[in-house]
Amino acid sequence: MNLIANVSENWGIGIGGELLVRIPEDMKFFRSMTLGKSVIMGRKTLESFPGENPLKNRTNIVITSDTSYEKEGAEIVHSVKEALDAVSGQKSEDVFIIGGESVYAQMLEYADTAYITKVSVSPEADAFFPNIDEMPDWELVHASPAAEHEGIKYRFCTYRRKVQ
Ligand SMILES: NC(=O)c1ccc[n+]([C@@H]2O[C@H](COP(=O)([O-])OP(=O)(O)OC[C@H]3O[C@@H](n4cnc5c(N)ncnc54)[C@H](OP(=O)(O)O)[C@@H]3O)[C@@H](O)[C@H]2O)c1
Repeated sequence: MNLIANVSENWGIGIGGELLVRIPEDMKFFRSMTLGKSVIMGRKTLESFPGENPLKNRTNIVITSDTSYEKEGAEIVHSVKEALDAVSGQKSEDVFIIGGESVYAQMLEYADTAYITKVSVSPEADAFFPNIDEMPDWELVHASPAAEHEGIKYRFCTYRRKVQ
């Protein structure tokens, strides 16, 4: 299972329910990686999308504790276990955990690959991705050359869980 996130220098991912930065090439990367796949997200991340709509051409699995919650085009689940059950018939590489903070933190243990776009900015944030640079069971296996958008440098990084 994969995680995919865009993080600032101190692993910030959002503030006030919004992303910290929007980089068109990163949006394209996210889309190309997840198209046709399953994406698992928290209710707040779904509601941060334009029109609060699920992502097109993907199987959207949304976690909420609200048992009356409904959203056309999304499969609603009420726990991490239910989210895992919803994707149990799929290849692990076809499942992406797409945030936010609470879902990354709870589902990190089920993932073996993390696609992290590291952006060289450190704006104030109130949501964070776990700092996997400091976790001994994760290693950086690939980092693209630095690219730049409107003066902001970024790199596409791939982390993998170390084989025990
Ligand atoms: N930079 C990135 O790549 C990236 C990606 C995604 C999101 N973000 C940012 O992350 C921030 C949102 O993160 P967040 O942690 O506040 O919200 P979130 O993880 O998107 O959603 C949290 C909600 O998910 C539900 N939930 C989570 N775990 C659950 C569980 N075990 N059982 C039942 N329901 C559960 C709850 O919904 P209910 O309250 O309905 O029960 C909870 O309030 C935003 O700023 C967003 O822009 C950034």
